[in-house]
Amino acid sequence: MAQAWTKSDWRNKPRVQMPDYLDADALSAVEAQLAKYPPLVFAGEARKLRSSLAAVSRGEAFLLQGGDCAESFAEFSADTIRDTFKVMLQMAMVLTYGAKVPVVKVGRMAGQFAKPRSAPTEVKDGVELPSYRGDIINELDFTPEARIPNASKMLQAYTQAAASLNLLRAFSTGGYADVHQVHAWTLGFTEGEKAAKYREMANNISAALDFMKAAGVTQETAHTLQSVDFYVSHEALLLEYEEALCRIDSTSGLPVAGSGHMIWIGDRTRQPDGAHVEFARGVQNPIGLKCGPTTTPEDLKVLMNKLNPSNEAGRLTLIARFGAGNVGEHLPRLIKTVKEEGANVVWTCDPMHGNTIKSSTGYKTRPFESVLREVREFFAIHASEGTIPGGVHFEMTGKDVTECTGGVRAVTDEDLSDRYHTACDPRLNASQSLELAFLVSEELSSLREARERAAG
Ligand code: PEP
Ligand code: CO
Repeated sequence: MAQAWTKSDWRNKPRVQMPDYLDADALSAVEAQLAKYPPLVFAGEARKLRSSLAAVSRGEAFLLQGGDCAESFAEFSADTIRDTFKVMLQMAMVLTYGAKVPVVKVGRMAGQFAKPRSAPTEVKDGVELPSYRGDIINELDFTPEARIPNASKMLQAYTQAAASLNLLRAFSTGGYADVHQVHAWTLGFTEGEKAAKYREMANNISAALDFMKAAGVTQETAHTLQSVDFYVSHEALLLEYEEALCRIDSTSGLPVAGSGHMIWIGDRTRQPDGAHVEFARGVQNPIGLKCGPTTTPEDLKVLMNKLNPSNEAGRLTLIARFGAGNVGEHLPRLIKTVKEEGANVVWTCDPMHGNTIKSSTGYKTRPFESVLREVREFFAIHASEGTIPGGVHFEMTGKDVTECTGGVRAVTDEDLSDRYHTACDPRLNASQSLELAFLVSEELSSLREARERAAG
């Protein structure tokens, strides 16, 4: 039995990575305002995502989660949202081809504003200031004023999230997501000489689309060809914001986070008795839990029981982020725990957060090769354990940034300074994201073929 819960119980638990607002009255006023606003997502949508994730846990669908490390107020524009949405649809199509199952698309969007930091303060030229914690909390500028947590930023974040979701909903149903259109963009990518190795798969997708057309499956006859389900997610870090947007689902009478379809708990805030776990356990949304090298089997057991006491498939997604070369040391022990508990989970791979390095030119970066290697290790271990590699989780953008190195349109250490725009961690650019989708799709094909062989 789940224990009684209210949306403010987290306030009685130890909290980490959250700001101390100096102006308590301003904070209360913002919370009261947000509590009156409409939720950004509805309970029925969160339920639908949960059932899609249940299919992922059974190997009947594949999860693609991706978007900014931190959304920013300054970079907010229709083009930015459109470009990320577009590349995610392209990736989903390429992944569908390899997996031969539907791809569940979840953006790190419309709420991914608050950031945990490795240190509470930052020192530059001998000056020490509080760390930047994301646009929903304070500002990136290195001045004492900019770094003061300001509660009114929650209202701006809400407004930006609402506008982002509005646009995403319009793109999802307004014809922009038409499969033929999406595939035409992908063909453009494979025209480049270096991407020629991906042309065969792209041509096979073209052939499949031509076949459907010949068989009479067109936009007019099949609504699903021109619309998609696209969900949004973020780390539920700033609990004042989450609590203020928590609502009661009128159908079930149960609490739901109205801030996004899926929320996750970060690697730094997953203390079993901490505030973040306390909040997440009480809402009905699908919950993600980052699992890193320091996740112990004991903690994982407690966390799975707290976050998914009735062991429902689709409720809990374990987001593994160990770093290339480390997956073999950590994933098997956690898979063992999941097996021992008989827990229903989705396993997904975040190959970003364990692979951050400093480039020779001084930038925080991630090599494409390390990202790919971690995904391959994740797949290989699931194959040997007989468990399901359910998805991938990327920090990415549809823009042509130079933040991660490598890829067919290679970004070098020297290139990083050209278009390094992230406010936080380095993201894959559009070309690197799509290329990874091709490579993951190959993994999915091999896995499927091996399963088919084993089944005789
Ligand atoms: C993130 O996803 O941006 C993040 C901070 O990840 P993690 O909690 O896994 O370090
Ligand atoms: Co990040």
